[in-house]
Amino acid sequence: MKAKILKINRSKPDLSKIHTAANAIRKGNLVVFPTETVYGIGADATNASACRRIFKAKNRPSDNPLIVHVSDIKMAVEIAIIPKKYYKTIDGIWPAPITFIMKAKKTLPSVVTSGLSTVAVRMPADSIAISLIRESGAPIAAPSANISKKPSSTSGKHAIDYFKKSVDVILDAGPSKFGIESTVLDLLTFTLLRPGAFTTDEITKAFGRRPKLLKETEGVSSNKKPISPGMKYKHYSPDTRVLLFEGDTKKLRSILIKYKKRFVFIGSKETASKLSGISKKNIILGRKSDRKSIARNLFRSLIELDSLGAEFCITESFSEKDYGLAIMNRLKKASGHKYFRTAGELENYLG
Ligand code: TXA
Ligand code: MG
Repeated sequence: MKAKILKINRSKPDLSKIHTAANAIRKGNLVVFPTETVYGIGADATNASACRRIFKAKNRPSDNPLIVHVSDIKMAVEIAIIPKKYYKTIDGIWPAPITFIMKAKKTLPSVVTSGLSTVAVRMPADSIAISLIRESGAPIAAPSANISKKPSSTSGKHAIDYFKKSVDVILDAGPSKFGIESTVLDLLTFTLLRPGAFTTDEITKAFGRRPKLLKETEGVSSNKKPISPGMKYKHYSPDTRVLLFEGDTKKLRSILIKYKKRFVFIGSKETASKLSGISKKNIILGRKSDRKSIARNLFRSLIELDSLGAEFCITESFSEKDYGLAIMNRLKKASGHKYFRTAGELENYLG
């Protein structure tokens, strides 16, 4: 199969393209579409066989449930029980890059929820995504548009590379606004399951209480059953080995000089300047304090990394303030927790 690739302009969308994509959803086909976080690979959430095709296209384990995207709160009420005490707040927050885990009503096929009694629901803050859901007339189940374990797509181009042969329509609206996935908040326990583009401070402000943070949120859980099924799987992993460094960046140059032109650096402008001339390439995410840019550029850089033929990649830690919590969560996972807190630890590892 060859996907129909439709370029679409967010500020002046060609409605006939939304129409084509919505028709595909209604027929039980797959559509890649933009959201404000990352691209999604979507199907009619009420159609079990269409949803099964998502798992196949992504090579996603069937016990990792999908997020259901809605265009208005009425649609959410049809599939989930919104706790009364949170209804007003949620209505006020949405559309936004936050997904809520709520008790599921029995309206969706179990393939969507992987048989759990809860469902993940989100109303994206992206005009194309909202028009697509509205026009389809059905909630759209959509995980991030990447092959399982690989970095998520933050532009139409990445999604086309991943899925041009396995979906029916790709709506390409260019780069994503946030570039990092939505925050996942479990409303039953008020626990943050995945840090994302809606910050912990924003949650606290809106709900008047701070969500619980789990150690598990930051990576693979030790021996406990993962609370969010997605947590137990490898994620965001380029084929190139990624090493996460937190130590003194002045010492980094002297450690890495032995590996001249053999490694790629992904990180801040400030640290990149210390490695010029010795790295194979510096991929600059932004200034160290500009965590919005760091988040936006992260996945694109991890995807680019694999085309550079480096022996390894050095990346660096960031403050966990605002978007930093999500950035560090993704970096820890991308590095498979190869996280060096001092220059000495990195030096020992590299040998
Ligand atoms: O920004 C986003 O959220 C993007 C765009 C496309 O909306 N979607 C996305 O979906 O990132 P996905 O499938 O890549 O991540 C969904 C996460 C997974 O970690 C999954 O395990 C978790 O949400 N999840 C889904 N249903 C759940 C449930 N009932 N209970 C706990 N976790 C759930
Ligand atoms: Mg994903």
